[in-house]
Amino acid sequence: MHSLIIFASGTGTNAAAIIAWCKENNKAKVSLIVSNKPGAGVLDIARNEHIPFLIIDKHTIHEALLIEQLQSYHPSLIILAGFMWKIPASITGTFAGKIINIHPALLPAYGGKGMYGHHVHEAVITAGEKESGITIHYVNEAYDEGNIILQAHCAVQNADTSDTLATRIHKLEHYYYPRVIEFLLAQLD
Ligand code: GAR
Repeated sequence: MHSLIIFASGTGTNAAAIIAWCKENNKAKVSLIVSNKPGAGVLDIARNEHIPFLIIDKHTIHEALLIEQLQSYHPSLIILAGFMWKIPASITGTFAGKIINIHPALLPAYGGKGMYGHHVHEAVITAGEKESGITIHYVNEAYDEGNIILQAHCAVQNADTSDTLATRIHKLEHYYYPRVIEFLLAQLD
C-alpha cells in the first residue's frame, strides 16, 4: 500500500478526487494532509475522512522538523493539490522526483508567482485564448518549471467567466490527477 501526502490550501476538490480513487483502488492511502490555511475546506475533508493533518505557517515553519515529519509517513509521492506556496528548496531537494503539482493552465503559459486559481483563468480569458487546460508536473526549486508529466486541453468559450472555466478545468483535473498518480505509483511497484 503506497503512502501519499497531499499539500492543499483551498476547498480540496482535487484532494477529494484522490481520496475517492484511493478507496476504489486500494493501492494507496492518503496518510497526511498538509495545509497552510487553518480554515481551508480541505481540512474538513481530512476530518471527515479521519486523515491526520498538519497546519504549517510560513513564518514559524521549521523546515528540518517538517521534513522529519513528512519522512515518518514514508510517502511514495507528495501531491500538491491547490497548494498556494512555493515549496522550500530543502523539501524539493529531500523529496526530489517525488513531488508533483497540478496547475490549471497549459504551462509554461500562465504560470509563475501570483498565477493560481482564479487569477489564472482571468488572465486566460483576458488574453482571449481559445484554449486552456491543465498541467501535471514534477516540482523542483523553480516555481511551475519542473518536468511536465501530462497536459490536457479544453476549449475556452466566448461566454466563459473565470467560474465557468474553473468548472471545466476542475473536471479535467479530477479525471487526470488520480490517473497520473496511479501511473506513477505503478512504476514504483
Ligand atoms: C486547482 O484548480 C489547482 O489546479 C489550482 O488550485 C485549484 C485548487 O482547487 N492550483 C494552482 O493554481 C497552483 N498554482 P481544489 O482546492 O478544489 O482542489
